This record gives sequence, C-alpha cells and structure tokens, in this order.
Amino acid sequence: MAIRRIGVLTSGGDAPGMNAAIRAVVRTAFNNKLEVMGISRGYEGLINEELKIFDHRSVSNIIGHGGTILKTARSAQFMTEEGQKRAVETLKRFGIDGLVLIGGNGTYAGGVALCKKWNVPCIGIPGTIDNDINGTDSTIGADTAVNTALEAIDKIRDTVTSMERIFVVEVMGRDCGYIAVRVALASGSEDVLIPERSFDIHKMCHDMVEGNLRGKVSWIVIVAEGAAKAEIVAQQITDITSLETRVAVLGHIQRGGSPTAKDRNLASVLGAEAVKLLIRGESCKAVGMISDEINVVDLEFAITKKPLETERIYQLIKMLT
Ligand code: F6P
Repeated sequence: MAIRRIGVLTSGGDAPGMNAAIRAVVRTAFNNKLEVMGISRGYEGLINEELKIFDHRSVSNIIGHGGTILKTARSAQFMTEEGQKRAVETLKRFGIDGLVLIGGNGTYAGGVALCKKWNVPCIGIPGTIDNDINGTDSTIGADTAVNTALEAIDKIRDTVTSMERIFVVEVMGRDCGYIAVRVALASGSEDVLIPERSFDIHKMCHDMVEGNLRGKVSWIVIVAEGAAKAEIVAQQITDITSLETRVAVLGHIQRGGSPTAKDRNLASVLGAEAVKLLIRGESCKAVGMISDEINVVDLEFAITKKPLETERIYQLIKMLT
C-alpha cells in the first residue's frame, strides 16, 4: 500500500536535537508529497487523539531549539493491550499509514509492539542523551548532553582547584555510563563510577590519600546516576579519608539547551532517511549512523544491549590522571 499520510511523535525523555529530527521528517515528507500529522505527548497523545496536521511553517525555526515541539511523555497506558488498541484505532481514524518514532529504548519497544502485533509500519530515530541504542555510533542528544555536562564540570574544576577540594559530580545515565566516561575523559576528572563496572571505594580513597601526601589536593569523581548516588559516595569518602567533600548533581540540565552542530546534523540525516524508508515500504527498522554511513537495523536489534567502549576509556582516564 502506498504511503500517503505519516505521523511523527517523540516519546520518553526529551533530547536536544529532537526538533531538528521532526523538522527533517516533516520537510522530507512534504518534498515527497506526503501529509504529516504531529502527535503530541508520544504514545499518550496517540491514545488520547492529540494530533494536528503539519503545514510547511509548523517546523520553521526549530532546528536550534532544545526539547521537542511535540512534547513527550512516558506512557504507562501504552504498555497495556487496551492502550495499544486505542492507539491503533486513532491511527486508523486519522488515516495514518506509517509512523516515525523519535526516542530511546521505551519508544522503540513501543514501535516493536505496533509493527509486530498491530501491523503498523514504524521507523525509529534514536533520540536520547544516554547513547544506549544499538546500530548507531551516537544517538541524537548525546553529544549536546556531554558538552553541557562538560561546561559545568569545567566550572566546578575552577573552585576545586582554588579551594583544593574533592568534588563528586553526578551525571545522567540510569543504565549506561556513556555520559560519565566521556565527560570524565574530556574534563580530566580523576575517577569515574559507571553502572557497567564494579568499583572499589576503598581503592579510590587510598589513591586520594596517597595523592594528597604527594601534594595532589584536588580531585573530581564523576558518578553516573545508575552507578551510585553522589551524596552517598561523598559521605563514604569523608568517612574513610576524613577529607572534606562537596557534591554537585547536574540532573536535567543535561537534557536541555540548544543542540550541538553534531546533533543537528545527525537528526537531519536520520529524519530524512526515516521517511524515505517508510516510502520504500520498510517497517520495524531503526536508522542510525556508523562511521558516517547511514545504518539501518531491525527495531528489535536496536534495543539490545549496546557494546560501549567504557572499559578502554576508563583505563585511559586512570592512566592520564
Ligand atoms: O533516558 C534519558 C534519561 O535522562 C536518563 O539518563 C535518566 O535516568 C532518565 O532519563 C530520567 O528520566 P525522567 O526525566 O523521567 O526523570
């Protein structure tokens, strides 16, 4: 069946660059004479019929804006059979022949249900700061998040050095240490705790005390939120070493702001590709980039555990300290 009208949604945690992806989807669709409906609040909006038809101006001047003009949500309703049924009914009622889904693991899992169980053509675009989607070197938003966290940590370094302190900085990443290791390496931080790697707090404290004796009096430890709570790590350091510590939790700051050129470019390329795939009759696929080449994988593969080079980078961080 030829595709005439597509829908686009963003779901899960917002990521900088999602707007650039929406823009590319909408403009590519128009250039191929397709109609586009924007679905608000992800799967929740699909269930509650929150849709509007896009015109050419709907996506003007959004390429540099963080967040998502479509808004986003984590939908518990869509996890149920009844929720999915209602979502599919909405698609039928609005004459939508295919969907572009922008988001992370949860979004893709929803897409797998839609295409496998309900026969809805779906293409996924990886939009998450976590960079935990398989089949792509980077996800849209990850580069911006690392740069945002880096800017904050560079500032923290000024006070760390001036006051000769130990700082524990918590960054995002519930299941994935990508932001933590990248930002630790880029900021010259002394240690990093990530969910993928067990850590020995006593060894870290021993290194700190030894460093202290050698005259190294400032120290930054980056903690991925999925590995530990910064407050607890800082308290443990003080208990073990008697050294004073301070804590900074960067939190959702990392999800906002204007996307970097890298994220805008990635979003533009993948947004255009997703629409072309739908036109070609593809479904249940995810688009990505590997070594600057477009890479298309099954949606189901994209949500399998992504092998990240965290160990190699961890060793490098320690060697350069
Ligand atoms: O998936 C992106 C992410 O920012 C994770 O790094 C973080 O654990 C989670 O979302 C936070 O989700 P919420 O904004 O719903 O608290």
